[in-house]
Amino acid sequence: MSNGRVKVGFIGAGTISYLHELGYHDNETGELYAVADPAPGLAQSRKQKWGAQKAYTDYKELLADPSVDAVEILLPHHLHLPITLEALSAGKHVSLQKPMAISMDEGRQIAAAAAGSDRIFRVVENYRTYEPYMRAKAMIEAGEIGDLVTIRVMMVRGKGQGGFDTPPAAQSWRDDAALGGPAQSILDYGYHVTSIVTYFMGSIDKVNAMSDLDGPEGFTGIPAVISWRHTGGQYGNWNMVTAPDMMVRTSYYPLDEWIEITGTRGIIWINQCTGNMLGKPPVEIYRDGEMRSYSDMETDWGDSFRVAAHNFTDAIVNGTQPDMDGEEAVHALAFALGAIKSASEGRDVKLSEM
Ligand SMILES: NC(=O)c1ccc[n+]([C@@H]2O[C@H](COP(=O)([O-])OP(=O)(O)OC[C@H]3O[C@@H](n4cnc5c(N)ncnc54)[C@H](O)[C@@H]3O)[C@@H](O)[C@H]2O)c1
Repeated sequence: MSNGRVKVGFIGAGTISYLHELGYHDNETGELYAVADPAPGLAQSRKQKWGAQKAYTDYKELLADPSVDAVEILLPHHLHLPITLEALSAGKHVSLQKPMAISMDEGRQIAAAAAGSDRIFRVVENYRTYEPYMRAKAMIEAGEIGDLVTIRVMMVRGKGQGGFDTPPAAQSWRDDAALGGPAQSILDYGYHVTSIVTYFMGSIDKVNAMSDLDGPEGFTGIPAVISWRHTGGQYGNWNMVTAPDMMVRTSYYPLDEWIEITGTRGIIWINQCTGNMLGKPPVEIYRDGEMRSYSDMETDWGDSFRVAAHNFTDAIVNGTQPDMDGEEAVHALAFALGAIKSASEGRDVKLSEM
């Protein structure tokens, strides 16, 4: 941290790294210093494009570089556990992409290593740094809709228009459950849903799910209808479908989601996230017989990655804990894996069983 800014290394320079890099353009507390990726020529080309100082094909060399203060781990899921443990042992602060791991045992190992380390550890959750969600959270905390009663999440996956294509190399590890984990849409995409519903309504004690766990190829675990009870007693549900002929307006993945949160006095809707299918104001509220809408906010989903990177390097400089810590990430993992267990066994699953 020679110039007062945290020197960050990316381990993994695939699809999502390009959004993480946005977090280092105007970052007062951090700089992108090094990139590691074994794909031929990739680390070198990213280094040049991004103005980083070092490129490595072996992440172990990046971890051995004493100038690297912190790492962002942007890797296939089976590598999250071993490389997080190595990075913490090497004395680096760690930001790990979601889902933290593909089994409870792996997740708990990561959380225990983080708890036993004096380094900052977080599982990056960019939905929590998406401004419409942050705005809704502030309204809830200000008591705008009274006490929370229920939350409803809708996700539609269609065909994209102008967004990302997942390259074959990025799809192949996702198609192998030993590398990507089970029922991807519930474990992987679902990590966002879990983090968001707990962000708004607190922890969850049991889950019940119906899902075609093995289908469809390329994004298993969809369709699904998943319900749960929060520890505070409120119920929530999440409906996830594929609509193959539906055009999704997006600059990113071909899906979008909208959320409805009902309280004792009113309702808040957050009408967009990954895409912008509905074309409505990003946040609307019903209260006292009136609808109000809010559009004065950043709605680009990609911007949530920029804010998340700032939160990470600011936290390192300030010695604070950014979202989400190991314990909270284990809770999110238990919810997702609990939903998969529920769909497979046809019964309610208590998260304490996981
Ligand atoms: N927050 C989000 O919305 C979001 C979106 C997409 C992906 N992700 C997550 O980001 C992570 C990466 O996903 P992706 O889509 O970028 O995958 P990807 O396949 O596009 O990229 C992974 C990269 O890791 C590299 N890699 C493999 N083994 C390595 C090693 N030992 N050392 C260094 N690099 C290695 C590969 O060469 C590849 O370039 C996953 O955890 C995924 O779930 C999150």
